[in-house]
Amino acid sequence: MTAINQDFSLKGWLGKSAIEDIGPNIEGVEVWGPKTVQAFRKQLLAWYDQEKRDLPWRKEKDPYAIWVSEIMLQQTQVNTVIPYYHKFMRQFPHVQALSQASDDDLLKVWQGLGYYSRVKNMRQAAQQVMEEYGGKFPKTQAELKKLKGIGPYTSGAIASIAFNEAVPAIDGNAMRVFSRLFAINADISKARNQRIFKAVIAYVLDPKRPGDFNQALMDLGSSYELPKQPSDPESPIRNFNLSYLTNTSQNYPVKQSKIKTKTISLNALLVRNERGQFLIQKRPSKGLLANLWTVPLFEQTTQDKPSYENLVEETQEIYHFHPIVMKTPIGHVKHVFSHRIWEIDLYFAELSWTKTELAEVEKTDWLYLHDLDQHAFPTVQMKIWKALHDYLKNDE
Ligand code: ADE
Repeated sequence: MTAINQDFSLKGWLGKSAIEDIGPNIEGVEVWGPKTVQAFRKQLLAWYDQEKRDLPWRKEKDPYAIWVSEIMLQQTQVNTVIPYYHKFMRQFPHVQALSQASDDDLLKVWQGLGYYSRVKNMRQAAQQVMEEYGGKFPKTQAELKKLKGIGPYTSGAIASIAFNEAVPAIDGNAMRVFSRLFAINADISKARNQRIFKAVIAYVLDPKRPGDFNQALMDLGSSYELPKQPSDPESPIRNFNLSYLTNTSQNYPVKQSKIKTKTISLNALLVRNERGQFLIQKRPSKGLLANLWTVPLFEQTTQDKPSYENLVEETQEIYHFHPIVMKTPIGHVKHVFSHRIWEIDLYFAELSWTKTELAEVEKTDWLYLHDLDQHAFPTVQMKIWKALHDYLKNDE
């Protein structure tokens, strides 16, 4: 299987980086062999031992305290969380105290953190721990996940930090670090891609120190591997980082923007004059495909008039000539931009005379198909030329 979820091969970096050997293909990602995995764990954990953030919950192995911190840290910054954490632990020092908290107490201790449902779920989970587990937290990720408000990430964090279970805790930080390490091009916002990250991180995770490994990823994600910035050249893992080595770290992680993709239906006018030239037009200096040349493109109207009639009218209005437009499209081109899809019907038209001067309309030109290289055409226009070429070939 080829590494379909990865943009570069590790092979080119063998011996030229910290990458010493190649391992299996995991979920479409070519990963390191055992030597490199060992070296990476050593490097990451040595850095963590030296540089880890001094955070109050890191002095704890108590699953209750770890759990409290992890729930607070969801959607809230570390610095904001610290005073809340102390207050919470003073007021509810153990799971039993929390299980008996009143709504009022909960509201007071959580006020200012937001997402109040988080703490209501916590009380419910505390009651589950009291009733179903005799007041002691279950020790495995699988059991922890059964508690209210505890999902794959939080259960992984508690199981690995408090109980040393060798499971990953996968949040945005972990996915960012790993997408950069292996140049993984799978979109992290898609639920179905979770298993790729889960499998790759589980493979690299240090089974002897899983909690520290997971927390080291969190610290990297808030220092040398920040969102919206490329990997820092001082990052302790730079020599393992395939995206850093290929100078592409700013491309990772791949994440679909919240902006919705919009589909636009267009008509393209392929108008040929008597000399056999086609009309092209330069696009405005701002916006999509700025300053590039295309054939005239018209957004399809919702009027119930046939497209070819609209095209004749619009051409008359804009270019002051009257082409004979074929009634049915000669082809169709689809082009996907990052947040836009163009669906273009191609209409062929002829001018019964040659009009070379289009003084009224700026930035237009007549072009022989054998002179395509005289202009900078975007890909979508190359697709249109190809469709036209296919049509004319069949028409001969
Ligand atoms: N963010 C979420 N969990 C964390 C932890 N245990 N330490 C630091 N940052 C975190």
